[in-house]
Amino acid sequence: MVAWVLGVESSCDETAAAVVSSDGDVASDVVHSQVKLHAPYGGVVPELASRDHLRAAGPVIREALARAGKDLREVDAIAVTCRPGLIGALLVGVQLAKGLSFASGVPLVGVDHLIGHLLAPFLRREPVPGADAPLSFPYAGLLASGGHTAIYRVDGPLAPQIRELGATRDDAAGECFDKVAKLLGLGYPGGPVVDRLAKQGDPTRIPFVRPMAQRKSLEFSFSGLKTQVAEWVASHPERDEQTVADVCASFQATATRVLIDKLIAAADSEGLHHLVITGGVAANRELRARAIEAAKARGLALTVPPLASCTDNAAMIAYAGAQRFIAGERDDGRLLASSQSVLPRRTHRGPAATRRLEAR
Ligand code: KG4
Ligand code: ZN
Repeated sequence: MVAWVLGVESSCDETAAAVVSSDGDVASDVVHSQVKLHAPYGGVVPELASRDHLRAAGPVIREALARAGKDLREVDAIAVTCRPGLIGALLVGVQLAKGLSFASGVPLVGVDHLIGHLLAPFLRREPVPGADAPLSFPYAGLLASGGHTAIYRVDGPLAPQIRELGATRDDAAGECFDKVAKLLGLGYPGGPVVDRLAKQGDPTRIPFVRPMAQRKSLEFSFSGLKTQVAEWVASHPERDEQTVADVCASFQATATRVLIDKLIAAADSEGLHHLVITGGVAANRELRARAIEAAKARGLALTVPPLASCTDNAAMIAYAGAQRFIAGERDDGRLLASSQSVLPRRTHRGPAATRRLEAR
């Protein structure tokens, strides 16, 4: 059976809706970004995010249905991101999806945002040259975004079939890209700017130490790398354009190498032959190039989703929801939003992350 699902996403700073089939066909994919709204503050302001989701969600959902040529009652299910994310932002999507489901009688399924990212490469879109191996389970998936960085063993599309092999003990990789850009006065979000400037820089100019590189562990730590960059920047107040590009290139080389080295180590230790990289940071050109090179050198299959599937979108949420729906899973008006993922965390948070959580 093929199911068509309306996906709704509002976990952070994108309001998105999409209509996707359980086979991965994308009938529509609408994303309203709040980047301009948060840019003056150098990061996402939760209250502003919630208010903007409230304004945008209705029109974005209507647009997604219109582009797919479907009425709400013509979809088989409504999938909504219910975790993890900013609680006020999540609530907008969840309450709206509950209302739509109640009014239309269309079944509701809640989706974990991280599972959406991990399944995004199944969406049928423009393939990425050199990274378009037909995907099947099991695989080793690196999810690197603004809020999360972890490697998973993915044996199937449902939560109990996905196991964390190692995660960051503190900052997420995307958060580190954003902080480095902020330190260099490059604006927000930082990932795309660092990526662009790194192309003109010398990656060997500053020997940043790769965090946790020597350990056998599959865990990451990015707060120390951020501190290394901060200290270098503070001790070099006179910076010309070339120096800024060199900092970007040196930082990016260090961060992307550690991400790919650990993904390969994870695949080796689990005996997996297929690699996936996904999440906003998977849009990074050097990360993609390193993944392609490493997979080729080791004879491993690699699937990297196109850019539109890497950064936050509702197509991946609709797809993940469709898999729950065809497996017979359903939610109802009791569905709750949560800031925590449904995937159990195996990595302990380091002191930096614990302090930050306590300060909230
Ligand atoms: O997956 P995503 O859109 O949202 C979250 O779920 O967090 O990821 C956003 C993150 C931001 O930190 C952004 O700076 C980073 O992805 N990012 C990149 C690139 N494009 C986006 N990082 C490195 N290189 C890029 N090209
Ligand atoms: Zn995301």
